[in-house]
Amino acid sequence: MLSLYPTDEGTFTLYHEGTEDIYHSRRGVLQESQHVFIETGLQYAFEKKKNLNILEIGFGTGLNALTTLAYMSQMPTQLAYYCGLEVLEIPSELWQALAYPAQMDRADLTAYFEQMHITEWGQTQTLLPNFRFKKELKSVFDYTADVPFDVVYFDAFSPNKQAEMWEAGIFERLYAMMSAGGILVTYSAKGQVRRNMQSVGFITERLPGPARKHEMLRATKP
Ligand SMILES: C[S@@+](CC[C@H](N)C(=O)[O-])C[C@H]1O[C@@H](n2cnc3c(N)ncnc32)[C@H](O)[C@@H]1O
Repeated sequence: MLSLYPTDEGTFTLYHEGTEDIYHSRRGVLQESQHVFIETGLQYAFEKKKNLNILEIGFGTGLNALTTLAYMSQMPTQLAYYCGLEVLEIPSELWQALAYPAQMDRADLTAYFEQMHITEWGQTQTLLPNFRFKKELKSVFDYTADVPFDVVYFDAFSPNKQAEMWEAGIFERLYAMMSAGGILVTYSAKGQVRRNMQSVGFITERLPGPARKHEMLRATKP
């Protein structure tokens, strides 16, 4: 059902047989996570607020949680709470084989990456003094937010493979869970996705994607 899939960057992502989709860009997992979620999402949001609640749809390999923790480890005066939603647990031999901390040249983060995976669903962990983490084995369709979210990492399978994740109803749910001024970032810039976001009240921006290839979206709740 899940297997390793090589990317141009020399890293691996996962292939999901059911949706016939891969978990990250085939061009590279690290540059996608860093560009879409950290630089265009997290860093941008921290320019306006020092304490952020972050929601990820879906947690998957844990890469975005790890790149967020790596960022937070260098920003001791900023605070973050991270909640990753997921419906499918990844077997340990696969997330271990991906070896994302080593791929990032941050072998010192390996214990945190393991902790994110082995921690119980629904239990909040303080991984760093300024970074609290929780993952929920729950679909975004069923989830009720416990805090207002300032940043949403929207990292679903692609609109062509899992269309129901990109419909207006999902964005309406997320909009209701977000704080005023909160942002949602995603790797897709599909026109219909952008219109669905706008139809529920988001202000959208089309921005350069990773390595300036294609575009991505940032949506702001006014
Ligand atoms: C493109 S993958 C990205 C995963 C992750 N962000 C990563 O970097 O590995 C999409 C993820 O969304 C999860 N997913 C699918 N349907 C979902 C749902 N209804 N609610 C939450 N997550 C879902 C999938 O199981 C998968 O892990």
